[in-house]
Amino acid sequence: MRLFVTGASGYFGSNLLPRLLEAGHKPVCLIRKGSEKKIKKYLKDIEIISGGISDLPSWKDQLKDIDAFINLIGIIREFPSRGITFERLHFKTTKSLADLASEKGVNRFLQMSALGASPDSRSGYHRTKYKAEQYLKDTDLDWTIFRPAFIIGKGNDFVETVLNLMDSAPLFPVIGNGEYRMQPTDVDNVTEGFVKSLTEDVTIGKIYEIGGPDRFSYNRMVDLIAEARGKKARKIHLPVFMMKGIAGAFEYFKSFPLTRDQINMLLEENYTDSREFFEDLNITPIIFDESIKKAL
Ligand SMILES: NC(=O)c1ccc[n+]([C@@H]2O[C@H](COP(=O)([O-])OP(=O)(O)OC[C@H]3O[C@@H](n4cnc5c(N)ncnc54)[C@H](OP(=O)(O)O)[C@@H]3O)[C@@H](O)[C@H]2O)c1
Repeated sequence: MRLFVTGASGYFGSNLLPRLLEAGHKPVCLIRKGSEKKIKKYLKDIEIISGGISDLPSWKDQLKDIDAFINLIGIIREFPSRGITFERLHFKTTKSLADLASEKGVNRFLQMSALGASPDSRSGYHRTKYKAEQYLKDTDLDWTIFRPAFIIGKGNDFVETVLNLMDSAPLFPVIGNGEYRMQPTDVDNVTEGFVKSLTEDVTIGKIYEIGGPDRFSYNRMVDLIAEARGKKARKIHLPVFMMKGIAGAFEYFKSFPLTRDQINMLLEENYTDSREFFEDLNITPIIFDESIKKAL
């Protein structure tokens, strides 16, 4: 299949591309100038349309003979002064792409959403993911929506960041009591789901929530990551209001690792029953220990 992939240069996209190629598909990727280097291994095997989502009028005529859209575009941090907002990158982008798919007569549309997407979430990330889902659901497209929990595996720098922080600071800071639940899912399970769903009609019109086989608290996850490197995590629990205050002061600096929105997401917890995903697509869930090994 010829697949129009947006967001292919990101962490998940660069894990998905080799899977799509292995399955014999031809990805046609919308890539912003400068981001080609993130996927240079695959450049010879894919087609590139150069541009961002806001340049859509200038590139849309290049899109020909596409069998399906795969939309992975997403942001974790807003920079409103530069027009980088959840509303624009999650909702308006999905709307533009869904409209474009309809205009081009492409029926199949795979949408990357996120576990926790809800109109009632305290996180703007989750509210706009939900709004995007709703728009897509109201179209005549053959859509499938994926809502993964935190995606872990090769290429994800979260594990290294946690370990580096443990090395560089005497105590590892944890927001609040750290007892909020997580259910990280392996990147290979999620990419497999995307690839299989392209040819599995049972997935049309479904929203798949995807969590891994292990469910634990944030505290336990930090311990497991430390143990994988033979370390012991010495944690310090910091009050939520204090962390929100600090994040509020620094979140528009790209190098600061945390935003208030991410704190809200963590506290709302991130776990689910994902049997339908694994059963419909005949995928074997990968345990967290394996995922950490791959991430290290
Ligand atoms: N990682 C997770 O744990 C996780 C969990 C659940 C859901 N998700 C969702 O999965 C998707 C991919 O996540 P990720 O972790 O791979 O994120 P990522 O590494 O930050 O990748 C984001 C992608 O979106 C593209 N993008 C951002 N702004 C754009 C714009 N204005 N025009 C065109 N492209 C733009 C980026 O392009 P550039 O390379 O040019 O910046 C990149 O390809 C997102 O929708 C995210 O919400 C992720």
